[in-house]
Amino acid sequence: MERIRVEASREYDVIIGGGVLSSVGERLRALVKGRSAAIFADDITFALFGTAVKESLQASGFSTVEYVIPHGESSKSAENYIAMLNFLAENKLMRSDSVIALGGGVVGDLTGFVAASFLRGTAFVQIPTTLLSAVDSSVGGKTAINLRAGKNLAGAFYQPCLCLCDTDIIKSLPDTIFADGMAEVIKYGAIRSTRILELIGTDVRENLDEIIAECVRIKRDIVNEDEFDTGLRQLLNFGHTPAHAIEKLSGFRVSHGSAVAAGMCIMSRAAERAGICKDNVSDELARMCERFGLPTSSEFSAEEMAEVAMSDKKRSAGGITLVVPVKRGESALLKVPDSEVLTFFSTGADTK
Ligand code: GLY
Repeated sequence: MERIRVEASREYDVIIGGGVLSSVGERLRALVKGRSAAIFADDITFALFGTAVKESLQASGFSTVEYVIPHGESSKSAENYIAMLNFLAENKLMRSDSVIALGGGVVGDLTGFVAASFLRGTAFVQIPTTLLSAVDSSVGGKTAINLRAGKNLAGAFYQPCLCLCDTDIIKSLPDTIFADGMAEVIKYGAIRSTRILELIGTDVRENLDEIIAECVRIKRDIVNEDEFDTGLRQLLNFGHTPAHAIEKLSGFRVSHGSAVAAGMCIMSRAAERAGICKDNVSDELARMCERFGLPTSSEFSAEEMAEVAMSDKKRSAGGITLVVPVKRGESALLKVPDSEVLTFFSTGADTK
């Protein structure tokens, strides 16, 4: 079992290991005064793990209520957000009580925003059930819902008081969902860790505890330094600028992990061809993506991706900040003026 301490505006532990789900009651009891807990999950995660979470909480003296949403991105809505706040109010939860997110990124982001705003902030536990949420969205306190105009347009920085990553759950995921998370694992290797790049070449399900812990340590270090995403944290967006464009252009038919994989390959080819990256990282990244059935290019043109990227909420005056590999296991931020974004994407989109 690994215990990683995040020292952001709230300090908390990320506990990583097989079977840690059943310790939620005992661990939460040591952290909060209230003895009521609301469990938010989707239909799949509640059916699989809801009973274990309830039993652990009840055995530690918590009374529990549960609210189940349909699985899928469309649940990350303003309607569900309001319904969940009303559910907490109707069940008379107090600020000293707790809110538990049992699920992947949709449940975690939505529940986190509910916890951030209910009574101006209620204790919140993340229990990620996908590899993607284990290594990325459950750590670092970004919470959000989608608006009609786009994904994650309303939200708050709100850290959990505990994150429990049960690797027995993550190991049992079907290949396609596992692969989606592997795109984010590859991202951590490319931005900060040759050790992760080595581990990706091994039996990853066998070495999962170490892989997740290594990713979480990197995210922890970055969040400790730049919790509110004003600089360094943007490194975590490697591949994400083209990825967000691909997701949007596909009407969200392309999964986040697949889009990130294609985006990372585009950015690494562009960085090499522009002479920014001296090592040949793009072939290795492409091989890693292929190994997990992830794409290495996009069905959309550089023009289409650049147009969407230029309208992105993260665009600042005069250009966009891209993340580019500078050598194996190391990436940097690069401010690209508007006039060069298309050239950059065209160079990277070309696979020949
Ligand atoms: N998912 C990127 C971040 O947490 O900043």
